[in-house]
Amino acid sequence: MLDHFMPPVFLGKRLHLGLSGSIAAYKMLDVLRAWRRCEVAVTATLTQAGARFVTPLSLEALGADAVFTAMFDDSRAPDAFGHLHPLHTAQAMVIAPASATTLARLAHGLADEILSCQALAFQGPLILAPAMNPAMWHAPATQANWRTLQERGCICLEPDDGGTACGDEGRGRLCRAEHIFLHGLKALSSQDLAGLTVLVTLGPTREYFDPARFWSNPSTGLMGASLVAAAWMRGAMVHAVCGPGVPALPPGVVRHDVVSAQDMHEAAMAVYPRVQLAICSAAVADFAPVPYGPRKFKKESSTEPFTVSFTRNPDILRTMGQEKQPGQVLVGFAAETDDLDRNAQDKLIRKNADVLVANRIGVEESGFASATNAVYVVDRQGRAELWPTLPKPEVAWRLLDWLLPELHRSA
Ligand code: C5P
Repeated sequence: MLDHFMPPVFLGKRLHLGLSGSIAAYKMLDVLRAWRRCEVAVTATLTQAGARFVTPLSLEALGADAVFTAMFDDSRAPDAFGHLHPLHTAQAMVIAPASATTLARLAHGLADEILSCQALAFQGPLILAPAMNPAMWHAPATQANWRTLQERGCICLEPDDGGTACGDEGRGRLCRAEHIFLHGLKALSSQDLAGLTVLVTLGPTREYFDPARFWSNPSTGLMGASLVAAAWMRGAMVHAVCGPGVPALPPGVVRHDVVSAQDMHEAAMAVYPRVQLAICSAAVADFAPVPYGPRKFKKESSTEPFTVSFTRNPDILRTMGQEKQPGQVLVGFAAETDDLDRNAQDKLIRKNADVLVANRIGVEESGFASATNAVYVVDRQGRAELWPTLPKPEVAWRLLDWLLPELHRSA
């Protein structure tokens, strides 16, 4: 569910989840669990049809702390004002799956059952993820209701194409559960990067020697993916230039997949002039072996020891530093085994970056392929901090907090 790169910053936030009648309702049980793992509190409402597909008990067992099922005489409701519960307690509301009837009720402002009544009263962000038979989805009435809801500012997650439970093919499947999960978190986040375009380089690069062998490093891209997710959740338009093996990223992130440092350099520099913030977190190979050729190197073809020559790769961060324009903030990372502070200061100046984040490698709990990172952060204003070992998603969120004054200064 991608919660491995979600920051633990949602404690005290609450989502209200509405489920209407569709076989896809079972998929929301996983989403509910993932939100709970991110510390999000969840209440839920099942329409009468929704309750035919999953039960209140399923939702409660997975962590929903109130489940509404009816407007009146609802023994589960905490008080007599269940229809106002999301309005008074939740920061965002998600209706998934949203049936054709539920969309119609919402579009026309009906409040004749508990879920549509709660939605009518709710004033925060409302996310809608429909699921229905393709013929029902394409019906003019459903399409008109969907347009109305879009125009009214609902966050509308289009259904996917493919096979549906009834055996028909077409558009109407509930969109991917991860997307609903991520949009729920985004709706709970402050949109303090809205209007900004952000570029992140992440993951390793591969420098091929022959068609079967390459020079690389153990980077997984988790730190960079956490930065991408955090910037996206906070409202930025994000371009991610990804080396091989980088995990799935939020929907709407523009992903540029590359292999070598040269490819990464070209992809990143093409986007760079359009961004206000560039973060180079990729573990770019500094050197590339001179390729043996299009055919595989045979071990019998050389006596030992044999020699491989290397050439220097372009330094993306340094090039960005040289070409930086007023209004751009540039952040570099540095993987260091020791002297974090001195190395960070050196690289900050040498690469003309605005912020440098040195992370410790060669120890457990930090650096390559670790879920946590121990970093030292310096900037051009003379701020310098050593952060405790933290989950990478938390490092990412804190780094964006740290960058906010820098971004406002340069705006
Ligand atoms: O010089 P060093 O490789 O230690 O610097 C690390 C920083 O420079 C990281 O931000 C990394 O993403 C970036 N870098 C780069 N292009 C390279 C090498 C490093 O952008 N060829």
